[in-house]
Amino acid sequence: MVILAPSILASDFTVLGEQMKQAEEGGNDYFHFDVMDGMFVPNISFGLPVLKSVRRFTSKTLDVHLMVEQPERYVDKFVRAGADILTVHQEACAPLKETIEHIHSLGARAGIAIKPGTDIDVLRPYYALADMFLVMTVEPGFGGQKYMDVCTGKIKALRESLDENGLDTDIQVDGGITRDNVEEVLSAGANVIVMGSSIFKGDITGNTRYFSELFKKYNCSGRVSS
Ligand code: DX5
Ligand code: ZN
Repeated sequence: MVILAPSILASDFTVLGEQMKQAEEGGNDYFHFDVMDGMFVPNISFGLPVLKSVRRFTSKTLDVHLMVEQPERYVDKFVRAGADILTVHQEACAPLKETIEHIHSLGARAGIAIKPGTDIDVLRPYYALADMFLVMTVEPGFGGQKYMDVCTGKIKALRESLDENGLDTDIQVDGGITRDNVEEVLSAGANVIVMGSSIFKGDITGNTRYFSELFKKYNCSGRVSS
């Protein structure tokens, strides 16, 4: 199943609700919610009050990406604020196994993210635990960056490794995904596609519909594993 997750970081926050509605008219599956603390990444975005408002506004899955040092400190608050999926960075979370288990104990799904420079081998101990692996395709911290081609091989290697272990865990990609490179990441084995600029710049409904229609083709053809 290929999933479309617009990243609201790229939206115009003065009309966030309207723009989310426009995306929903185009058929998105999730909303991706980028939390940045200015420590793990050199940027600050938004947090719990905004998530609570967004939660009241949409019934879509809220896919929260914590680009935060020691994210374990905030798991309870983000799940209570409405996160359906909570993804923490392997590089930022020392008690990773306990944090994933805690997210599950709260009834949410748990993702583990790795930066472009982090090897997929660090994910292996969590294969049976995590619901999703996020392979960052830009350095985290900013929207509107260029896709890092070197990440395609990582996506492919991770999908092959999961297949070898009989797992169809979701692989999410995030950063610089456009109409020109989306089929490259789909063919490599990614199936949860985050896009900010490619959705929220220009015709939001039209952009969302374009990708939603494309992903339906993949879902029917089964060309993407899992
Ligand atoms: C970057 C964020 C991404 C970003 C995607 O740190 O994690 O979700 O908002 O935006 P685009 O699709 O514009 O690269
Ligand atoms: Zn993100």
